[in-house]
Amino acid sequence: MASPTLPETMRRIRYDGTGGPDVIAVETAPVPRPSAGQVLIEVVAAGVNRPDVAQRAGSYPPPPGATEIPGLEVAGRVVALGDGVETLSLGDEVCALVISGGYAEYAVAEAEHCLPRPGAISLVDAGGLPETFFTVYSNVIQRGRLGSGESFLVHGGSSGIGATAIQIAKLFGATVYATAGSAEKCQFCEMLGADAAINYKTADFAEEIQRLTDKRGVDVILDMIGASYLPRNLKSLAPDGRLVMIALMGGYKVDGLNITPIMRNRLTFTGSTLRPRPKADKAAIASGLRRDVWPHLDSGRIRTVTHATFPLEQARQAHELMESSVHLGKILLITGR
Ligand SMILES: NC(=O)c1ccc[n+]([C@@H]2O[C@H](COP(=O)([O-])OP(=O)(O)OC[C@H]3O[C@@H](n4cnc5c(N)ncnc54)[C@H](OP(=O)(O)O)[C@@H]3O)[C@@H](O)[C@H]2O)c1
Repeated sequence: MASPTLPETMRRIRYDGTGGPDVIAVETAPVPRPSAGQVLIEVVAAGVNRPDVAQRAGSYPPPPGATEIPGLEVAGRVVALGDGVETLSLGDEVCALVISGGYAEYAVAEAEHCLPRPGAISLVDAGGLPETFFTVYSNVIQRGRLGSGESFLVHGGSSGIGATAIQIAKLFGATVYATAGSAEKCQFCEMLGADAAINYKTADFAEEIQRLTDKRGVDVILDMIGASYLPRNLKSLAPDGRLVMIALMGGYKVDGLNITPIMRNRLTFTGSTLRPRPKADKAAIASGLRRDVWPHLDSGRIRTVTHATFPLEQARQAHELMESSVHLGKILLITGR
């Protein structure tokens, strides 16, 4: 079933090869059609995420079978239903995790990977929800098992991921610490609920964590830096602590690492990447979010922070802003629909 006003073609972004922001191009392409179990969304906003930058640079190709068109999350209105979709109707306002193809006026999503637009959040801002909320919930709550009364450290606290992690960890009753690269970014983390933020450019985060926790360390760390932080992350974990890795911005090889703390403190070292996970895993994450987190987005207790919006045609400027790392929270592309 489809809206009678669906056009034949749409604007979308593609990468002309791999490289810097100059490979970003706008093109006209046919509007995709949903297969069984999928919906077509008329996109109002699409989130820009660091993995899109990595894909453009050639280090994060889409999984086999997925379109090369970038974009991992969208918000908009359902305009066509694939066979067997009964949980959504034409006109519903949703946000969705998509495997690719979000930088476009229309995008196909699995019905099970859609969530309703929360009442307190505009359809534009909802475009920045899925990627960070799926990533943080699955890694911090499901994989890291962060619980009430525990302590939590997130690196890159002012990033899209960081802003979500601070709020979800507070929601689950944790004491929250964040690292960020300037005084303004630290203030932003504390405004979102972090109990303390550490400027990693002026202080050693491991020493600060020792001081803040009376030498105990934290129960869970969400890390996006990787190799260069691994020795200090291991030092910063409390007994039975969990280190969850989601990116490797500081490298992936560590020479001469002393792994004794893993045994002595019974540490768990884990991680994941969201995009290649099976459909059923993403559906399970969506239902956990719907149950545990969405009511708090509806009530306004948790929010999304949009730093800047750009028209779809200015995806290049959006990537330049992300790579400058001056942003606080999310960067979005808007279609004007
Ligand atoms: N595994 C997954 O499933 C998954 C899913 C989504 C995102 N991610 C990853 O999560 C990270 C955050 O994504 P995002 O979209 O939220 O990106 P983002 O908003 O651009 O955030 C990246 C942040 O990292 C900090 N940073 C960059 N390079 C750094 C370095 N060498 N050392 C320390 N801090 C550094 C910057 O903050 P400062 O200025 O404070 O340094 C920046 O705010 C990315 O690495 C992304 O690839 C992983």
